[in-house]
Amino acid sequence: MKIDGISYRSIWLDDDGWAVRIIDQTKLPWSLDILRIATVDEMAVAISTMQVRGAPLIGASAAYGLCLALRVDASTDAMERDAAMLAATRPTAVNLKWAIDRMLERLRNTRVEERVATAYAEAAAIADEDVAQNEAIGRHGLELIRAAQKPGQRVNILTHCNAGWIATVDWGTALAPIYMAFNEGIDVHVWVDETRPRNQGASLTAWELGSHGVPHTVIADNAGGHLMQHGDVDLVIVGTDRVTRGGDVANKIGTYLKALAAHDNGIPFWVALPSTTIDWTITDGVREIPIEERSAAEVTRMTGQTADGSLATIQVTPPGSGAANPAFDVTPARLVTGMITERGRCAASPEGLLSLFPERA
Ligand code: MRU
Repeated sequence: MKIDGISYRSIWLDDDGWAVRIIDQTKLPWSLDILRIATVDEMAVAISTMQVRGAPLIGASAAYGLCLALRVDASTDAMERDAAMLAATRPTAVNLKWAIDRMLERLRNTRVEERVATAYAEAAAIADEDVAQNEAIGRHGLELIRAAQKPGQRVNILTHCNAGWIATVDWGTALAPIYMAFNEGIDVHVWVDETRPRNQGASLTAWELGSHGVPHTVIADNAGGHLMQHGDVDLVIVGTDRVTRGGDVANKIGTYLKALAAHDNGIPFWVALPSTTIDWTITDGVREIPIEERSAAEVTRMTGQTADGSLATIQVTPPGSGAANPAFDVTPARLVTGMITERGRCAASPEGLLSLFPERA
């Protein structure tokens, strides 16, 4: 995507051809800080502190993290240890494990002296495939937005968290159809859930859409149900961090409540995902998907920009009040209208997913 006329991906190789560059997402929307990541430990910190975040992007980041590790020690012992360390950085998005498993499968069958070159080629393939998959998701989702158009009226789409180009390598999942609709002149407007506690909607989705010129309005997380009751939402599109083979969907905390409200109001609730987000080993999302529990400080404090342009973190709860911070929830398949994947759209059910991915039967 372009920012001020310059094309970016969310992750790329530095000019030296081995270190990795990322956009520090903890600094958005206030500044576009590009970080150089030169060690596997730095990459692990970038993932766990959410300088890089979003399911597909943390997969690609972990793949490049393994490349950085192998530059230092390409032995099998070190490779397995560093892979396990990267895999432990965040538990919910299955793309992280998928990318590491794909790297290991390739590298275990590669001679030690060839591992670094092989790893960089595989990480680049993972990144390029993610871009192509998201572009395809965009095309399949665009058809839904076209179909939702009514003469003389805007198409109002609600989204939660950030499933845009910075959550992937490029394009995004939920936002890819929206970018394509906007690019072809459809009158779209996006309701952007702020997405407490980390505000990925208010800070990241709003920044992305604003940079691309897409009309949008940030709303408090609790406003979506009210807007749906009043006919102000035509469809909901969200991303996901892990989908079971039965179609249950883990996504940012609060997604489930939006799905319930959409269901109650007869509003289509679509989930956009590359197939790297499907965990074919599990069926029951509520019981089997591990939900990341993050620091209570993300709930009790908020960070923002002060009038003089500096960043400040303030406490929003009384001292002594406890806080809990489950970072994701699971929306059961019965509340999901359908899935938008790189191979097309399908029902959120075992049969639906298998119709697009029959090789998983
Ligand atoms: O905790 P985050 O910001 O990494 O969570 C991200 C999300 O929940 C996204 O909706 C999901 O990863 C889909 S990204 C295309």
